[in-house]
Amino acid sequence: MGGAMAVAPHSRLLVGQHFSFGCFRSSSISIKRQQQQRRFLLMGSDHYQEKAAKYWDHFYKIHHNKFFKDRHYLEKDWGRFFSAEKDQEAKVVLEVGCGAGNTIFPLIAAFPNLYVHACDFSPHAISLVKSHGDFREDQVNAFVCDVTSDDLCQKIVPFSVDIVTLIFMLSAVSPKKMPLLLQNIRRILNPNGYVLVRDYATGDFAQERLTSRNQMIGENFYVRGDGTCVFCFSEDCLSTLFKREGFNTVEINVYCKQIKNCSRNIVMDRRWIRAVFSDSDCPRPTLFQESR
Ligand SMILES: C[S@@+](CC[C@H](N)C(=O)[O-])C[C@H]1O[C@@H](n2cnc3c(N)ncnc32)[C@H](O)[C@@H]1O
Repeated sequence: MGGAMAVAPHSRLLVGQHFSFGCFRSSSISIKRQQQQRRFLLMGSDHYQEKAAKYWDHFYKIHHNKFFKDRHYLEKDWGRFFSAEKDQEAKVVLEVGCGAGNTIFPLIAAFPNLYVHACDFSPHAISLVKSHGDFREDQVNAFVCDVTSDDLCQKIVPFSVDIVTLIFMLSAVSPKKMPLLLQNIRRILNPNGYVLVRDYATGDFAQERLTSRNQMIGENFYVRGDGTCVFCFSEDCLSTLFKREGFNTVEINVYCKQIKNCSRNIVMDRRWIRAVFSDSDCPRPTLFQESR
């Protein structure tokens, strides 16, 4: 199940307190929430956007690689993009915002010939990737990078990547900075390559919960209790964002699933967006133009 555990790290913390505080739980939870809401208002949305790397790094320092589940469904949903035809060279992937490696390691296991670039702006996340039992330096190039400000061409040959994956990653970026990220990945994407996106859709259970807790800091944009942010996409908003930066929408849909949490006696309406984009009009590197 994609990203389900990522919904609200904060809520896990509260559930933990819920048990330890016993009969005082409702008052302690509401006091804690009120304090948080006051903090969100005081800080303002710019604070969380400017300090995003700090909050995510702290997240991995606390949770290590125990928070997200491995994303085995990518092979089933998008296997055709990763498998190389006979006589074709192995595909090159860039996983943006790789976290602890929950996307890359299942992919490598399913497609052993892949070469993977994996970046994240959290140094703790990159250390977790490098210390993973399946990490091989000749197959994975893991590096620290803020994709909204560091030029990917400093680490990756321009136009050399066949598949860029953004798995529950774009939602972590402030809407103001999303265009910068897309411009950056466009510079390393092969003209025949694809960008695969999986993320939170509007109307998801997580969005409703964050709204009810007054954790909204912008339109469809929220801050969780741990300071990390999350944006929820409609099909229209995601395809318009990519179109503006020179991408075509190949496919886009919203996947809905009802999940029952028996221990908490709630039914969650989960909604995830899945999309594939291509760049049919990728600019050629200067190097190629000069050699013609
Ligand atoms: C929800 S996690 C997803 C991790 C991973 N893609 C997966 O499949 O499990 C979002 C990740 O994006 C990273 N991230 C957010 N903004 C970033 C940025 N501007 N540059 C690089 N990484 C970023 C965070 O550190 C975090 O690891």
